[in-house]
Amino acid sequence: MTKWHNRATINILIDRRILICGFETEEVSMKILTVIGARPQFIKAAAVSRILRKHHTEILVHTGQHYDYAMSDLFFDELHIPKPDYNLGISGGGHGSMTGRMMIALEEVMQQVQPDRLLVYGDTNSTLAAALTGVKLHIPVCHAEAGIRIGTLKNPEEVNRICTDHVSALLMASTESSMDFLRREGLAERAVFVGDPMYDAFVYYQTRCSRELIKTAEDLNGQRIPLPECYYYLTCHRQENTNTDKKIQQILAAAEQLDAPVIYPVHPRSAEHVRRIADKNSFKNVLLIRPVSYLTSIALVKHAKKIITDSGGLQREAFFAQKQCVTVFNHVIWPETMCGNRNQLAKPETADILQKLSAVQKTDPDYMPFGDGHAAEKIVSELEKELP
Ligand code: UD1
Repeated sequence: MTKWHNRATINILIDRRILICGFETEEVSMKILTVIGARPQFIKAAAVSRILRKHHTEILVHTGQHYDYAMSDLFFDELHIPKPDYNLGISGGGHGSMTGRMMIALEEVMQQVQPDRLLVYGDTNSTLAAALTGVKLHIPVCHAEAGIRIGTLKNPEEVNRICTDHVSALLMASTESSMDFLRREGLAERAVFVGDPMYDAFVYYQTRCSRELIKTAEDLNGQRIPLPECYYYLTCHRQENTNTDKKIQQILAAAEQLDAPVIYPVHPRSAEHVRRIADKNSFKNVLLIRPVSYLTSIALVKHAKKIITDSGGLQREAFFAQKQCVTVFNHVIWPETMCGNRNQLAKPETADILQKLSAVQKTDPDYMPFGDGHAAEKIVSELEKELP
């Protein structure tokens, strides 16, 4: 995938010259600064870095947004993600405080590194902080997973993704519906469909996700416990669902009534809260466990009866694995997954969740709107093009 350019067209970093057939040509290598900070970004970066580093220099910055071993280092170790060149150690606090502290630290890094491109993923506070810092320093911001819209600024991720898209020079969409949103906002000229790097990761790693990985897990006290062979897989971490007792109680009450145990790896933020509600209601059908690695999570998806989640990533992984999913959220994030009852929205209410879980699902193995499993290659090739 080596690119050869005429000298005149090169406006990015050149690392060496090679003489071919008497013409002096140059292999173009760029310096890409990638900023990541939260679990889903580690997975996407694992897929893209592998390709990117074949021909370019990647400087990896971890903001520190996710910092517990199971939320961060475990992903780097398991997915062989290169060690970050910078770890800013910034997490927690209010959204403004977190974003602001990240911007201060990122400005210093960007001024030192002077990258040709800034690569950001998704919609976390780390994404927004990097994009705003980059655009102010006139570094072309390249946004992977651009164009997702759910239609409310009350959702913190929606704010992050709209702002990031509008300051980016390159918008790389995972789906056609994301392309449509970008067109509607007048961003078509900067937008391109590349597919979903999460699908690349799923295709690449899924054969390693056997049942062996899910024989046991750590409960919230750190004790190893056996996991059942037949189970539902639940994840629920969004602030919209976990900020009140009532919603999480309703979600767990639905899990309690299912015909098989429910495995629920809990985000550290809501662990104490969720445990208190489960204990108070003597819920016995729900196995609360510590956050699991990427490969373990994919193994849980592949072998589950059905999936209940509020995670954007897990909705797609359920779709990739052709597992029925119920998403406890008010808004559609991935419209492509909603066909044939494969993914249905439910309110955070017991009856609604149970009713949606009982619907009959129709799968179509040939329908794959998330690309061809080579989004990473397309992302790298888009980064190599000239940008405004
Ligand atoms: C963030 C992203 C969300 C993404 C999710 C993936 C934002 C606004 N949201 O949500 O888009 O889907 O990551 O998981 O950026 N905490 C720990 N240990 C950790 C990480 C967090 O204890 O390793 C606690 C901290 O108290 C922190 C809180 O969890 O304040 C919330 O974490 P935060 O990174 O703000 O948001 P997430 O809910 O993880």
